[in-house]
Amino acid sequence: MRIAIGADHAGYTLKETLVAYMREHGIEVIDFGTHGPDSVDYPDYARVVAEAVAGGGADFGVLICGTGIGMSIAANKVPGIRAAAVSDVYSARMSRAHNDANILCLGGRVVGPGLAIEILETWLRTSFEGGRHARRLEKIRQ
Ligand code: RB5
Repeated sequence: MRIAIGADHAGYTLKETLVAYMREHGIEVIDFGTHGPDSVDYPDYARVVAEAVAGGGADFGVLICGTGIGMSIAANKVPGIRAAAVSDVYSARMSRAHNDANILCLGGRVVGPGLAIEILETWLRTSFEGGRHARRLEKIRQ
């Protein structure tokens, strides 16, 4: 599995934690930055990660800003992207099972590293259920 990841300054520290966690667990990570704490604009990172996922260069994406909200708004502008801003384990599971989310957006100022790892683990191991949910996603796509 190949994961594209990006963050702004507010998500930088959590991104470093999640990159290390995924690499330790044998997950291939493409880290699009940011690579330090200096202030940057989250749409720039949302765009490159979303385009990597939509173009097939990555299976899934993870985007982290202060809340996860700006990243999700920006990433969802890219056709084919279903980005979900998540801050609890139940929503992480449902965003995959019912919404087939292909980008997980987290808030570095909302969730701590322990919860973020649980959310990410849950999100990565949950499959889309298809069926009636696929019909609904097709309506969104149209
Ligand atoms: C940066 O201060 C902050 O606005 C950004 O990280 C994000 O939370 C936007 O949604």
